[in-house]
Amino acid sequence: FWGGIPQGPPDPILGVTDAFKKDTAKNKVNLGVGAYRDEEGKPYILESVLKAEDILHQKKLDKEYLPITGAGDFTTLASELAYGKNSKPLQEGRIAVSQSISGTGALRIATGFLSMFYSGPKVIYLPDPTWGNHVPVAEQVGIKVQRYRYFDKKTIGLDFAGMKEDIENAESGSIILLHACAQNPTGIDPTQDQWKELSEIVKARKHVALFDMAYQGFASGDIIRDAFAVRYFVEQGHQIILCQSFAKNLGLYAERAGTFSIVVSSPDEKERILSQVKRVIRPLYSSPPIHGAQIVATILGSPELYEQWLAEVKKMATRIIDMRERLYDLLVELKTPGEWGHIKSQIGMFSFTGLTPEQVGDLAEHAHVYMTKDGRISMAGLNEHNIQYFAESMSKAVKG
Ligand code: LMR
Repeated sequence: FWGGIPQGPPDPILGVTDAFKKDTAKNKVNLGVGAYRDEEGKPYILESVLKAEDILHQKKLDKEYLPITGAGDFTTLASELAYGKNSKPLQEGRIAVSQSISGTGALRIATGFLSMFYSGPKVIYLPDPTWGNHVPVAEQVGIKVQRYRYFDKKTIGLDFAGMKEDIENAESGSIILLHACAQNPTGIDPTQDQWKELSEIVKARKHVALFDMAYQGFASGDIIRDAFAVRYFVEQGHQIILCQSFAKNLGLYAERAGTFSIVVSSPDEKERILSQVKRVIRPLYSSPPIHGAQIVATILGSPELYEQWLAEVKKMATRIIDMRERLYDLLVELKTPGEWGHIKSQIGMFSFTGLTPEQVGDLAEHAHVYMTKDGRISMAGLNEHNIQYFAESMSKAVKG
């Protein structure tokens, strides 16, 4: 039956971790996957998460199935975090929300729902470049993928004119995927004024804005500031779709906690939409896992743990910003040819270094330094122990 199946390619991001694990060198460095590491290069479990787990343990909660759309306390608190407690559609009961298997699962509910129920053009515009998984999540349900310009190679900045033009020229009613903050992989976000312009264009063209928000708090260390684009679009009346992940900002990677939501016109419409969202989810995975959602709800629902969590997100964001400064200084000190200011100005988990695929290959082969082929590095993989080695290796690769 299966003999003719060819070998599939390694995943462009998770495959980097596989290659790193196979490398036996002591000084190896993994800057591939976007997962936070502490000063010692170790995975970091947030104190607020540990405390929430203690509380949950004491409660000896059961493991009964959750409803198809997940835990109600979790989805309410998660929506308040994303949209803001004072959000009008939230207060008016006009946000249809479901728990999801983290951000990817939210995106898959979104594309599944759109492919079944959206009457406009089944085409999604993704930024060029974007997170690799956006493409199959859309294509596997028959949604056509198009691109809008985003990254300007010359300035290593945002090609805002190109972005606007492409979104303007997209067929009216297209689905436009926007990274809410800390764009992956470039680390380059529109400014608040640019978001305002984008809102106008998306509205004028009657497009659907689909926000992927995987880094609330991680971009600036401020969860309100990082939610600016989402909240602004909602204030302007957009009926956005939102995919929210708690993998990074709570360090809950493998717990797969997230939400999918849509802003709609009325509470009645919300109920109808949720009834159909259930039909998307049930054949996919029936109902979501419980533990991660309970952790998030415990933290967001306790003023004390919430404050502690905010301080921890800020701490993670600040360590990343420090590493940006250090890497920039070292590259300059090492007289690395080129302009490296973007390492400091980029935002969030990643830096889009500008290294070529050949240089990336060289770094893996000769220096045991791993990153994605596009030259993206996870800044959180750097620390006091390996940053000098990394900067020297990178500088050498650039000098050729
Ligand atoms: C990444 O881009 O490294 C993260 O979002 C992890 C993933 O699932 O790809």
